[in-house]
Amino acid sequence: MRISFISFGAMAILATTAFGQKAPVNYDESKVGNYTLPDPLAGSNGEPVRDAKTWREKRRPEILHLFEEHVYGRTPVGRPPEMHFKRVEPRASALGGKAVRKQITVYFKRDESGPAIDLLLYLPKNARGRVPVFLGLNFNGNQAIHFDPGIRLSRAWIRENRPMGIVNHRATEAARGVESTRWQVEKILERGYGLATACYGDIDPDFDDGFQNGVQPLFYKPGQTRPAADEWGAIGAWAWGLSRLLDYLETDKDVDARRVAVMGHSRLGKTALWAGAQDERFAMVISNDSGEGGASLARRNYGETVEILNTNFPHWFCANYRQYSKNVAALPVDQHMLIALAAPRPVYVASAEEDRWADPRGEFLAAKAADPVYRLLGAEGLAASDWPPVGQPVLSRIGYHVRAGKHDVTLYDWQQYLNFADKYLKRSR
Ligand code: GCU
Repeated sequence: MRISFISFGAMAILATTAFGQKAPVNYDESKVGNYTLPDPLAGSNGEPVRDAKTWREKRRPEILHLFEEHVYGRTPVGRPPEMHFKRVEPRASALGGKAVRKQITVYFKRDESGPAIDLLLYLPKNARGRVPVFLGLNFNGNQAIHFDPGIRLSRAWIRENRPMGIVNHRATEAARGVESTRWQVEKILERGYGLATACYGDIDPDFDDGFQNGVQPLFYKPGQTRPAADEWGAIGAWAWGLSRLLDYLETDKDVDARRVAVMGHSRLGKTALWAGAQDERFAMVISNDSGEGGASLARRNYGETVEILNTNFPHWFCANYRQYSKNVAALPVDQHMLIALAAPRPVYVASAEEDRWADPRGEFLAAKAADPVYRLLGAEGLAASDWPPVGQPVLSRIGYHVRAGKHDVTLYDWQQYLNFADKYLKRSR
């Protein structure tokens, strides 16, 4: 016990000094502190929510609004009027004949200036009818998800990563396939699903430039130079981008847009949860190791904290979120309520045993605390009362697993997502 405590402590110091942080990070379960979660089934006027109608019409919109105002910021409603899709590669045979590959660019301006999102879509070759699709943003460009030489190199600003072939913030040929273990394209196709992905940097480059280079400026009012304190940050923009990609999928005759699972890892797992909360067209939501600001409870002092998030990534959330850095108990929401916004759709929360920074137990407890909302809606919630052992997935309508290993997306994770999708997404809705 003592040894593991010391080693977690060392990890904490490393994790924090990398960002110049001084605050100690807690990895001791006995020091998590006491907290009371806001009740998803009690309105802000204190009235209990007793039926599905009250949830739908009152409490759900109220919670969504609280997340907008205090956490992720408000997102502009609707699509830019000049948005259009260019089928850059309408249909090609790929992966040795096993797949159909399509590449599409989403433009927001008629003259095609400004931000643009390059979407890569793989479909199983011999699909009969429209297929369900997993949609997720990637970190290092579309070419990183598979060695397929036909994937266009990303044009996005990407975080520097020379070992991964990202040089001067751009993808190079050496960046092909560098994230292929995280996507498992063949496995997904074999099971009858499509995969759609785009690089998050196309939507909003992941650095704090005062919101000049992403999609936010498309919506500035005359004279506005950055989002207001309750308007979207980068996570809000990435989530909005996922909805625009779904707009494209709705136009594709090979895709069943009513069966799209939005999936993301880490900061993009936070993003997937927020996208699924706002856009109920997503039929399923999957959070892979999303951690603080994603699936794990903010009120638990374990691993990363709201303060650390706001310090290291000031551009991810709305400016109002900073008010809670030193007073997380005052947050009118906690992350179980974000998971509950997926209800009654199937939602999956995945943790990794060694990913203590993300607080795996806090992710489980949040999933569990979303359960009463599912039950109120007549849906199965999370079929586990205690934190399940490592490697024992729970595939109830709120799904959960903690797998062995580190912060990552692995074949094991995908096997569970595919089983989960087989259970809830396989048949046409
Ligand atoms: C950092 C950050 C996490 C985030 C992760 C990622 O570790 O602190 O909140 O989830 O990056 O996106 O990889």
